[in-house]
Amino acid sequence: MNRSVVITGANGFVGRNVGMFLSKNGFSTIGLVRKGRSVPFGKTITTGTLSEPGLASKIKGSDALLHFIGQGKQTVDSEYGSVNVSLAKNAVVLCKRAKIKKIIYISGLGVDKSSTLGYFISKYKAEQEIVHSGLDYTIFRASYIIGRDDPLSQNLQQQVKKGQMIIPGSGNYRFQPIFIDDVSRVIIKTLSGKKFSNKIIDLVGPDIVSYNTFVKEFLHGKKIKIKKIDFESAYHDALHNKGPFGVDDLSIMAGDYIGNYKKLAGLVGMKFTKYGPVLEARGLF
Ligand SMILES: NC(=O)c1ccc[n+]([C@@H]2O[C@H](COP(=O)([O-])OP(=O)(O)OC[C@H]3O[C@@H](n4cnc5c(N)ncnc54)[C@H](OP(=O)(O)O)[C@@H]3O)[C@@H](O)[C@H]2O)c1
Repeated sequence: MNRSVVITGANGFVGRNVGMFLSKNGFSTIGLVRKGRSVPFGKTITTGTLSEPGLASKIKGSDALLHFIGQGKQTVDSEYGSVNVSLAKNAVVLCKRAKIKKIIYISGLGVDKSSTLGYFISKYKAEQEIVHSGLDYTIFRASYIIGRDDPLSQNLQQQVKKGQMIIPGSGNYRFQPIFIDDVSRVIIKTLSGKKFSNKIIDLVGPDIVSYNTFVKEFLHGKKIKIKKIDFESAYHDALHNKGPFGVDDLSIMAGDYIGNYKKLAGLVGMKFTKYGPVLEARGLF
């Protein structure tokens, strides 16, 4: 069993939650962050690019690196290539310098060689850096990961505060939310089993749910106006930096990506949490 892990993107939603879960379960954890904020678990190390001299020696002897840096929206100052691809490349080099043999990466559900979406292309290129690294790798292609403070729920909660929930298009496109604690459990299994070695696996929950249904259940009977807008208007707003969704968010929603839950469940052999109880437990209502 790999018991000591280094986590990049340790202050993000996935990094923070997985880090706390692993710490509580007896793992020794080091969180790599780019700002001076300490992680609420293990040891914190600050790094900008994962490539500073001396960084490798500080994490030497760790069993695995969990690469959770990523971004889903580009800006002039921060493009996908420089974050999603280059930092994956740097993570691989860091593993080699620090003699860390195992790397776990979270990619996106829907990513593959034929991707045409900028975000997916960057994730695919990051995957390729890892696949061809010579390291023992496990790559998870994740649907929406949900928990207390996940980006999707935060977005919906912001809309609730504004008194209006926007549904682009029909709202019939689907996804497979997976509970963050289940993601942590899957990662623990991955750290302990050779059957996850050198594999790309969909990271999806047990339910396939339409966006319409998810929003309805998120509202939990709360009387909030639901406004359906066509995709043209939604893209118009996104392109003008308005509205709750980014351009690539909208494309992923319209993509209706569904993954192979049976394969994941068969590999890990554990019971997964349904999204309904996760929404109820968030205590937002
Ligand atoms: N959440 C989901 O539903 C979901 C679904 C599919 C895939 N994923 C993937 O899972 C990974 C983690 O997602 P998340 O939800 O935890 O995202 P998140 O909350 O936005 O966290 C992203 C992390 O990446 C770090 N980061 C971003 N740009 C960086 C840069 N230029 N240099 C250094 N660090 C940088 C952030 O650092 P700061 O804390 O300093 O901002 C943060 O810690 C990402 O790769 C994401 O694409 C997530």
